[in-house]
Amino acid sequence: MNRMGWMVLCLIGVGGVLYWRLVANARISEQVVMTHYATLKDAPLSSKQYEDMLEVYHGCFEEAREKNVRGFLQSRSQQDSVLGNMKIENRVSKILQDIRVESLKSFKDRTNIYIGMLHDKVVGFFTCADDHVLADNGVMIWSICVDEKLRKKGVGSKLIQHAITSCKQDGRPLSLIVDSYRSHLISIYQHFGFVQRPPEHPFPDSLDYFDKVYMRYEPAASVMPKDR
Ligand SMILES: CC(C)(COP(=O)(O)OP(=O)(O)OC[C@H]1O[C@@H](n2cnc3c(N)ncnc32)[C@H](O)[C@@H]1OP(=O)(O)O)[C@@H](O)C(=O)NCCC(=O)NCCS
Repeated sequence: MNRMGWMVLCLIGVGGVLYWRLVANARISEQVVMTHYATLKDAPLSSKQYEDMLEVYHGCFEEAREKNVRGFLQSRSQQDSVLGNMKIENRVSKILQDIRVESLKSFKDRTNIYIGMLHDKVVGFFTCADDHVLADNGVMIWSICVDEKLRKKGVGSKLIQHAITSCKQDGRPLSLIVDSYRSHLISIYQHFGFVQRPPEHPFPDSLDYFDKVYMRYEPAASVMPKDR
């Protein structure tokens, strides 16, 4: 085969792989079945499924939380000595441990939760919070989370789209908050019609709101980022 023939063959191969990945990913997200529960306690999950769901949850938020806690403590500390840093690190571990224990206790009390199942596995979830102090009498999409093993296969997009349709209520704003440094996430939300806005109410001066940006669903005002 001549050079041209090899090139055509390569192109067909690469195209085939890309096409197959697209089709396979579409199949995965299409197979995810979303169900709403007034509280997580209502969801018919076995204890194994529930434990796996908790692991998915920790996989989604632990790393970002650690970064947040450290940043929050550093922003409040004047010390930059080795001793100061050690103190911060000790506090980071303690706070993370406390949060883990607390979230283990309170996880089951989540309300208005949407769970995505792939066959018998929980692969993602989110909640619609309609009484949140920041929501400005609107609804906030909270804790969108996809199992790490299934990311970048369209499941997150499916959840975000589902969250928009199910959390949005006529005449009430729809919003969410996101870590300011997570630009890829901000652009995902922009892609779905969210726009960065100043929060209607200032963020409380606490760890949960440290270094966050507020985004509102305003599809008419949003510009879809080209190169995500
Ligand atoms: C954010 C999250 C839900 C996205 O889920 P996902 O299943 O990976 O999303 P998708 O596969 O639908 O990807 C959506 C788009 O984002 C892109 N994307 C996803 N993760 C990305 C990453 N880490 N870096 C860059 N781009 C990323 C995808 O490539 C895709 O872009 P495309 O449509 O142009 O191909 C998931 O990463 C997650 O659970 N993160 C941890 C929890 C979290 O941070 N939640 C948000 C709280 S505000």
